Amino acid sequence: MLQIGPVKLATNLLLAPIAGYCDLAFRLICRHASFMPEADPRSTFTPTGGVGLACTDLLSPQGLLRGSASSLDLARTSDEDKPVGMQLYGSDPDIMAEGALWAVRHGATVVDINMGCPVDKVTKKDGGSRLLCIPDTAVEIARRCARVLEPHGVPLTCKMRLGWFDDAPVALWLAPRLIDAGAQAITVHGRTTQQKFMGVVSHEGIARVVEAVGRASQRTPAIPVIGNGDVRDAHDVVAMIAKTGCAGVMIGRGALSTPWLFRDAWTLQTKGFVPSEPTTRQKLDLIRMYLDWMIEFRGEHYAMVQMRRRISWFGKRLGRELDYRGTPTGCKPLREAMRGTATPDDCRVLLDRFEAGELRGGGYDAPVEEAAV
Ligand SMILES: Cc1cc2nc3c(=O)[nH]c(=O)nc-3n(C[C@H](O)[C@H](O)[C@H](O)COP(=O)(O)O)c2cc1C
Repeated sequence: MLQIGPVKLATNLLLAPIAGYCDLAFRLICRHASFMPEADPRSTFTPTGGVGLACTDLLSPQGLLRGSASSLDLARTSDEDKPVGMQLYGSDPDIMAEGALWAVRHGATVVDINMGCPVDKVTKKDGGSRLLCIPDTAVEIARRCARVLEPHGVPLTCKMRLGWFDDAPVALWLAPRLIDAGAQAITVHGRTTQQKFMGVVSHEGIARVVEAVGRASQRTPAIPVIGNGDVRDAHDVVAMIAKTGCAGVMIGRGALSTPWLFRDAWTLQTKGFVPSEPTTRQKLDLIRMYLDWMIEFRGEHYAMVQMRRRISWFGKRLGRELDYRGTPTGCKPLREAMRGTATPDDCRVLLDRFEAGELRGGGYDAPVEEAAV
C-alpha cells in the first residue's frame, strides 16, 4: 500500500503520464487488466488489483481554464477512472494554482506538477524539466498549488528527473525543498534531461533521492518517493524497489505493450509469483475494449488514428504462440493490415481473423517501433 497525503492507494503501482497515450480509454484498460483472471481456467487464483493510481497526460492549465476542447479531452475522467492524478505543466505559479483548482473541481484525486518533460515546446516556456534549472520557481509553484489543494484534501505531487545536466543531480536537494513547500510525494525518473530517453535508468540516482527525502522529512507517514524508468515486467518492479528503497513504482512504456503488468507486479509482490501470460483472446479483448472506449470518448476518427499507431505497441505481446518449428509466430501481417484500416469494423474483422489463427508471421522479434512514442 502507498499513501500520498490523505489518499490511500490500493497498491504501490502507478501508471505514468505518456502524452498521446495514457488517455482515459487506456487508463481504463490498465485498470481492467489489473483484475484479469488467470489464463488457465483451472486456476483458483483471483487477482486483487494492480493500478494504485493512474495519471492523465500533461495538461496545459491555460488550456483547461480557457476550456479548449483538446485540453478538456485530455483531462476527461470518469467514476471508473479513480483514483486519478491530473498532471499540469507550466511555469507561472498563479496559473498553475488556478489549474490545480480546476483539476480538483473536475475529479482529480491527486494533482501532479510536471518537472521532467524534456521536450522543447515545454521547456522553452520554462515548463517541464526546465523547472529543475529555476528551482525557486519550481518551489513557488509547489507552494501555491499545495496551498489551494490542501482545503480539498487533494495532495500535490511532483514528477521530476534526476536533474537537467548529467553531473548536477538537482533532485537531491530540490525534492526536499518541494516537500517543505507542500508536495506529498515525489516521482523520480532516473534519467537526466540531457539523457532524454537514452541509456539505462539510474537506480543509484533514485536511491540517493530516496535517502535525501528520508533525511529531510521526518513526518509520519513518510513522504513517499516513487521510482520510475525502464520497468518492463513484474521482476523489474521488485528490482526497482529493492535497489532504490522507493515506496512505489511508476510504469510508463511497459504498460503500453503489457497493460496487465500492474496485475503481474502486484501479484508478484503480494503472492510471490507472476500469473501466466494472458491468452490471445484476453489480449485481443483488451484491444477491442480500447477501440470501443476510444470511439465512445473521442469519436471514430481519433479512435482509428490511435488504433493504427498503437498496434505496434499492442503487437509486442501478440503472436507469441509457437509455430511447428517451435518459434513464436509473430503478428507482422496483423500490424501491417491494421495500419491500413479505415473503419472500426475493419479493425474488428482483423482482430477476429487473428484470433482465428490468420495474419501471423514475421517472427516475434519483428521490428516494432519503440520510437513510435
Ligand atoms: C512519448 C512520451 C510521452 C511522455 N509524456 C509524459 C508526460 O506527459 N508527463 C510526464 O510526466 N512524463 C511523460 N513521459 C515520461 C514518462 O512518464 C516516464 O517518466 C518515462 O517514459 C520513463 O518511464 P518508462 O521507462 O516506464 O516509460 C513521456 C514519455 C514518453 C516516451
